[in-house]
Amino acid sequence: MDHFHTRATQLLKIRYPILQAGMSWASSSAALPAAVSNAGGLGVLAAGPLYVQDFCRVLDELRAATHQPYGVNIPLYRPQAAELLDAMHARRVPVVIASQGGPKAHLARFHDIGSVWIQVVSTLEHARKAQDAGVDAIVVVGTEAGGHPPGNEVSTMVTVRRVLQDISIPVIAGGGVADGWGIAALLALGAEAVQLGTRFLLTDEATVHAAYKDAVLAADVADTVLIGKRHGLPVRGLRNQFAEKIFEAEDQHLSDDAYDALFKSSTLKQAALEGNVDWGKVEAGQSAGLVHQIQPAAHVMHDLIHELDMATRRIHHMCRHPD
Ligand SMILES: Cc1cc2nc3c(=O)[nH]c(=O)nc-3n(C[C@H](O)[C@H](O)[C@H](O)COP(=O)(O)O)c2cc1C
Repeated sequence: MDHFHTRATQLLKIRYPILQAGMSWASSSAALPAAVSNAGGLGVLAAGPLYVQDFCRVLDELRAATHQPYGVNIPLYRPQAAELLDAMHARRVPVVIASQGGPKAHLARFHDIGSVWIQVVSTLEHARKAQDAGVDAIVVVGTEAGGHPPGNEVSTMVTVRRVLQDISIPVIAGGGVADGWGIAALLALGAEAVQLGTRFLLTDEATVHAAYKDAVLAADVADTVLIGKRHGLPVRGLRNQFAEKIFEAEDQHLSDDAYDALFKSSTLKQAALEGNVDWGKVEAGQSAGLVHQIQPAAHVMHDLIHELDMATRRIHHMCRHPD
């Protein structure tokens, strides 16, 4: 399969409707996004954990490593967001994928230079606001997703359909998808492209500690949990000592201050950079249980495209041979 045509592939100027999701640390270096973009998907650099100077260096490395479109994922709540956005604007980043903050203040100047603006939303209400603000597309994921899924625990299957009932701009869906069969399923639901995080976490190029990858690789589909539900902004990650401690704290109705202190005693950085998979936040989605090897990202892209092809042919075949 050479190309796949959807509104998202047209908008993003990519060959396949596949996005490598922005993942703090894991995709905060150039290698992973460059490999995905070079293979016909959209590689996404995660700016979240980077200081401006480091971000500029990594972004320049990415620009040197691919001539294909790529995206930058930026949390707008960050104190340095304005400087990060200036650096992105100066380098004419082709695709901005913004989360945790409103797009209105920035949209016009990025549209002026031809950038595509995609807003990450977690509810229908925010999807409507993003559409009204004039963004080009939205990303919607369900509770299966690694990282920060919506607090309402609604599945990808239901969330995506609900958003599609009311939204007309292209929807990029994800959460729980690790292979081409899942991509075909979300395209069939009405999504224009699919983003995969956990699958790309388990690649050679993802920049997290080997112990992190091994722990996620060993996990089955029921081995992740939502951690920190009491905050309303839970993290989906592997059930480890830290997660158990949080559940204990919830059972014991710990005070808000003590609960906050406990929650903050564990970070994604501890797991991703130091390899502390017992106490760090080992962010990963339910689809960890669907991945059985660590591969180069280009091989992952090859397999995803092949499976997507098989899945779509299977459905076509069923239509033509009803019995
Ligand atoms: C290790 C990890 C780090 C993540 N960091 C970010 C981030 O910095 N910004 C963001 O918008 N989403 C982040 N996410 C969420 C992903 O962008 C994506 O929505 C999610 O991984 C999709 O679900 P899946 O893991 O089931 O494929 C992260 C996810 C993981 C697994």
